[in-house]
Amino acid sequence: MTDRELLWTVPIFSEIAEADIDAIVRLCTRRKYPKDTVVFFENDPGDILFMIVEGRIKVTILGDDGKEVILTVLGPGDFFGEMALLDNEPRSATAIAIESCELLLLHRADFESALEENRSISRGLVRVLSARLRRANHQISTLALLDVYGRVARALLDMARDEGRRLKDGHIAFRRATHQEIANRIGTTRETVTRMLKDLERQSLIDVEGKEIILRPDFEKAFD
Ligand code: CMP
Repeated sequence: MTDRELLWTVPIFSEIAEADIDAIVRLCTRRKYPKDTVVFFENDPGDILFMIVEGRIKVTILGDDGKEVILTVLGPGDFFGEMALLDNEPRSATAIAIESCELLLLHRADFESALEENRSISRGLVRVLSARLRRANHQISTLALLDVYGRVARALLDMARDEGRRLKDGHIAFRRATHQEIANRIGTTRETVTRMLKDLERQSLIDVEGKEIILRPDFEKAFD
């Protein structure tokens, strides 16, 4: 995919005219990040907006005791790092490449001038930030209202809907995250997730096949 094609898939740049997108493309640089590299840490000063060409980025908050809470996992076409540019505060979370990643980087001054010249970028930003707030509200209610079994089920459903592909028979297949990753999304332990996944498999609500988890149609009926 060319840089121009990629920028058009990023929601904040999707409505920009061809000539303007080419001007922004010229300001971006591509950079590769091997798997498990930290792009930046929470509380770092931040002057760059990142767009994902390839790979997945985990956005996470690390506690002093080494525990982590995963806020979200972003993939191709998503952007991150906009908050520090918009509110001039330090990075609100840590960003880590969980697969080998290729990112497009746009520096603060270039982002700000693009923002001033193209009103559609602000409209896109507000739209995406609202969607992220909705999602965060949903996560807060999940954490506060569901028991741990419901939280594991909800995490699987969210991952399936965000990243999965629907198969013809109504099943949804998606990346098999580690049990630790699922646990860190919902504030529980790896052992609990392992136990619950086994239980869901025993009830024929999910299948674990190679690098994928498959949700059966009854799973959505039971937990939606
Ligand atoms: P920034 O604060 O610059 O650095 C961390 C980035 O993670 C932040 O910008 C956002 O791009 C992203 N981020 C933080 N919280 C969330 C969230 N709840 N959902 C999606 N992305 C987030």
